[in-house]
Amino acid sequence: MNLPDKVTLVEVGPRDGLQNQSHTLTPAERVEFIERLSQAGLSQIEAGSFVSPTQIPQMANTDQVFAGLKSNDAVRYFALVPNLQGLEAAIDAGVKDIAVFTAASDTFTHKNINCSIAESLDRIALLMPVAQQTDLRVRGYVSCTLGCPYEGEIHPERVAEVAKALVDLGCYEISLGDTVGMGTPEQARQMIRTVSRQVPLPMLAAHFHDTYGQALANLYAVLQEGITVIDSAVAGLGGCPYARGASGNVATEDVLYMLNGLGIETGVDMNALLAANHYVCSRLDHINHSKVAAVLQPLHP
Ligand code: HMG
Ligand code: MG
Repeated sequence: MNLPDKVTLVEVGPRDGLQNQSHTLTPAERVEFIERLSQAGLSQIEAGSFVSPTQIPQMANTDQVFAGLKSNDAVRYFALVPNLQGLEAAIDAGVKDIAVFTAASDTFTHKNINCSIAESLDRIALLMPVAQQTDLRVRGYVSCTLGCPYEGEIHPERVAEVAKALVDLGCYEISLGDTVGMGTPEQARQMIRTVSRQVPLPMLAAHFHDTYGQALANLYAVLQEGITVIDSAVAGLGGCPYARGASGNVATEDVLYMLNGLGIETGVDMNALLAANHYVCSRLDHINHSKVAAVLQPLHP
């Protein structure tokens, strides 16, 4: 079977997970959550975003979150930024790794960031030289890669075109989002095959939401295609405020359980991850969405 020996898990719970919760955590609670995730061995964690606090109040005060994080050479903490204003705030907060985002659907992009795909790429082009002068690493997201809640079907060629545009602008990795979790395994496989004709496979990551319960099956299909970077959120937290019906990201615990079973190395400790799940669920009115965490209990919560 064609599967990788090693996979990097990118934990997006503190950003994608918390941005859609009805209860907003304090910066101190967000820091505690992130520290627990790093103690679990997660080496890449999206810690927050510098977006409009009117639109996403849950992510306000992300500067205080970065100020509260202990520096740890083993972990990269990302901030999501939509424009130059967000980048400048991230730089002021001492952020070293940022993520920029656009989509393969114009309608979704308008709802999400109030502009077209082309305009969003212009905004990214504007911030890129500043990010490069500051030695920031820039990850790129493409949303709606397996379907759009407004436009329906999205052609994989369109996804490839947008992913390539982000690489040409200077992104080192492109995370391909199934934002509303609509996709199915063969569709995910074909999308990766199409995109990898434009962007080399080692530069691609899978960012799948689990709305229709397909995320693990989709991940298994794309692992077979050579994907080695997976985004996930502990407790299956998440959802995009601009994608009606989008439930959480695939749960990190469930992905880890699958990868452990396949003998794929991640460096992540299940028990410590369960402790992070326990912490964040106790602070939110969120029902745990990880099937694995519903069965396994942490030894030392
Ligand atoms: P806009 O209204 O078009 O921007 O919003 P504007 O430039 O006209 O500015 C309007 C106001 O926003 C101004 O304030 C700006 O200062 C302020 P005012 O003068 O009215 O007081 N503003 C900002 N404030 C803080 N930080 C900033 C910033 N920029 C402008 N960076 C904007 C454009 C992008 C800002 C807005 O639409 C926004 O913040 N949207 C939220 C987007 C978001 O966070 N979406 C969720 C994340 S994406 C996602 O979840 C998908 C992903 O997970 C992948 C997947 O699943 O597919 C990544
Ligand atoms: Mg997402």
